[in-house]
Formats: sequence, structure tokens, C-alpha cells
Amino acid sequence: MTTTADAALAPVWDALAAATTRRTPFTLASLATVSADGAPRSRSVILRSWEPGRAALGLATDARSAKVREIRADPRVSLVVWDDDAQVQVRLEGRAAVVDDPAELRRRWEGLGARSRRGYATVGVPGTPVDGDATPARDDDEAVWSARFAWVEVVVDRVDRLDLSSEPHDRVVAERAGAGWRARRVVP
Ligand SMILES: Cc1cc2nc3c(=O)[nH]c(=O)nc-3n(C[C@H](O)[C@H](O)[C@H](O)COP(=O)(O)O)c2cc1C
Repeated sequence: MTTTADAALAPVWDALAAATTRRTPFTLASLATVSADGAPRSRSVILRSWEPGRAALGLATDARSAKVREIRADPRVSLVVWDDDAQVQVRLEGRAAVVDDPAELRRRWEGLGARSRRGYATVGVPGTPVDGDATPARDDDEAVWSARFAWVEVVVDRVDRLDLSSEPHDRVVAERAGAGWRARRVVP
């Protein structure tokens, strides 16, 4: 059985729009990248922007983080979100890019709250060892923090939505096909 791509994608697009304008269960995603040795690496990230026309998600991160190195070396990424209330899982696959445009970076930095900005205060490179029980050094110059900030854009090209709220469960996979999308129901 086939299903029209628009009908299949609409609930996902709506949920991503909501997740990036207010806190919803889909706001927190797990992002998987491919590491240098080919092994998968995943971590939690906040989904911060969604552009439905391009199917592009945006997220904020530290320019010195492993995920940024990994994305620069291999742009293939996968994201998964789960809404426990709706009983819906969405898996997204696509290509990530680290945004280099200074004006875009400034705009995104300005869109971050004070608490998020403070996350960029640490002097040490994320993931590097801390001596004993020392507190990792921080500095208080926001200009320095912003220089550590990176914006990653993920252009989605595959969507897999699993709905466990209905019996039987319902699963739809949509993939880009030319300028549009093709969707089909699959066995859950
Ligand atoms: C609830 C939660 C939200 C997080 N949001 C982000 C985020 O939006 N961006 C980010 O870079 N790291 C975020 N993190 C931290 C990452 O999960 C991860 O620990 C960190 O980015 C280092 O990842 P990496 O070494 O694989 O690059 C979050 C962690 C948690 C627990």
C-alpha cells in the first residue's frame, strides 16, 4: 500500500515545527554521527530550528566538539526522537553541515538564551581530561564564548515514523525522490 508523501510527512513536519518553537518531547533528539574509525557515536542535542521547505534542522554546538569534527569528515547523520505521550518515534537521516557564514552564526548566537551561551565558557576542549577534581577553567568574555559556537544544519532526506498508539502499529517511511518525497507504509 502506498501513501501520499504529504499526508505521511505532515505530522512529522508539524511536530518538528512545534519542537523548535517550544519545548516538546521532540525538542531533545539523539544525534548519531560516524566517527573517524567508522563507529557510530550518539549524543543528546536540542533541536533549535526547522525549515520545512528544505527539510532542514538546526542545532547549536561547540565548534571544538567531536561531533563537529565527525560531521566535517563525514556528513551522514541520523537523529531519533520519541514522544512518550503520543507514543510516536521519528527517525531522521540526512546530511549535516557546519555553518561557516559569519552573519548566520551571529544571528544564531544572538538567538541563544543566556544559559545556553554560558555552555561555551569552558576554556578546555570538550572531552579532554580534567586534572584531578579541579573545576574546568571558564572565562567570562562573551566574545570568546561566541567564537567557540557552531551551528550545524541537517538536511533531512529520509523519515521513518513509527506510531505505537494504534493497534496494529503504524510505520511510514518517506524518502526524497527528485524534487519531492515518496512515502510508503512498511511493516512495523
Ligand atoms: C538534555 C541535554 C541536551 C543537550 N543539548 C546539547 C546541544 O544542543 N548541543 C550540544 O552540542 N550538546 C548538547 N548536549 C551535550 C551532548 O549530549 C554531548 O555530551 C556533548 O555535545 C559532547 O558531544 P560530542 O563529544 O559527541 O561532540 C546535551 C546534553 C543533554 C543531556
